[in-house]
Amino acid sequence: MTEPTPNGSSVTDLNELQDEATRAASDASDLDALDEVRVRFTGKRSPLAELQQGMRDLTPDERKERGQQLNAFKAAFAAAYDARRDQLAADALRARLEAERLDLTVPARRLPVGRPHLLTQVEHEMLDVFVGMGFAVAEGPEVESGTYNFDLLNIEPDHPARQEMDTIYVSREDDVVLRTHTSPVQARVMTTQEPPIAVVCPGRVFRADAVDATHSPVFTQVEGLVVAEGITMAHLRGTLLAFARRLFGADRQIRMRPSFFPFTEPSAEIDVTFEGHPSGWLEILGAGMVDPNVLTACGIDPDRYTGFAFGIGVERVAMLRHGVSDIRDLFDSDVRFLTRF
Ligand code: DAH
Repeated sequence: MTEPTPNGSSVTDLNELQDEATRAASDASDLDALDEVRVRFTGKRSPLAELQQGMRDLTPDERKERGQQLNAFKAAFAAAYDARRDQLAADALRARLEAERLDLTVPARRLPVGRPHLLTQVEHEMLDVFVGMGFAVAEGPEVESGTYNFDLLNIEPDHPARQEMDTIYVSREDDVVLRTHTSPVQARVMTTQEPPIAVVCPGRVFRADAVDATHSPVFTQVEGLVVAEGITMAHLRGTLLAFARRLFGADRQIRMRPSFFPFTEPSAEIDVTFEGHPSGWLEILGAGMVDPNVLTACGIDPDRYTGFAFGIGVERVAMLRHGVSDIRDLFDSDVRFLTRF
């Protein structure tokens, strides 16, 4: 038997309403639908609101009872609502994890790994050898004045070396050139530092040379300079022998042949033994004792100090070390070539 209530609702109606509401909550397909269910059954214009309105007309006893019934309804609905909400959230999370699952067995894409250019590698190896012997590294500008590139190095304006070097002028008027060698860095060091001096000077140099398998208008040198009291040819030889052995192999020999450079006296061409077919000697660098005129021009007392200097072509060392027969390979930036080193 159901007991009629003033506004037409009964306990049975309320039970049915609760069944209906909780079922609708459980059946909601997503959070929006669930919210609609909440509004429909418990919102401002819902049956629940209506019943709450109707309580005004009840006796105190009835009101108390109806209040308990409505609270029970609300609690039941809230439980159904929360359960469904949690379930929908869990479903959504599971779906997302499924969609974003990583297959760790898929092979990784191989990213190309860069490396220093062969010339840079060889230059660094060369510098390492000298730094290990106590040399400092010094650098100078590529756009250089004739003063440093020629004059301080005892290369007079009408000296044949100026023509031989195929100088590229930036401004003939202002006597500005692209340096034709790294020797001007020697002059820059000597005019600014007191002996004892031991520096190596790496850098690019420029000459108006036509390109072929062994010539490039831009190439790289490492210059060396030692100035102190009592420096002799024996120090030069020992230093360069140690260098040759570190770079080319422990049993290498070097030999010095007389040569000429305006900034050294005496001057030498240095060869290193080469084991191949046929084996023999390979020229790797020019060197000599710093000409007293150069010391004087750079403000160093030649009666107190002596020095040796050398200039090494980095391309030549790289080509000899790695069997590269065409200098253009060092400048073409062909990745197939570069990745071999
Ligand atoms: N500057 C010379 C050149 O570019 C190389 C050289 C030779 C440098 C002898 C030196 C040296 O310091 O002593 O051809």
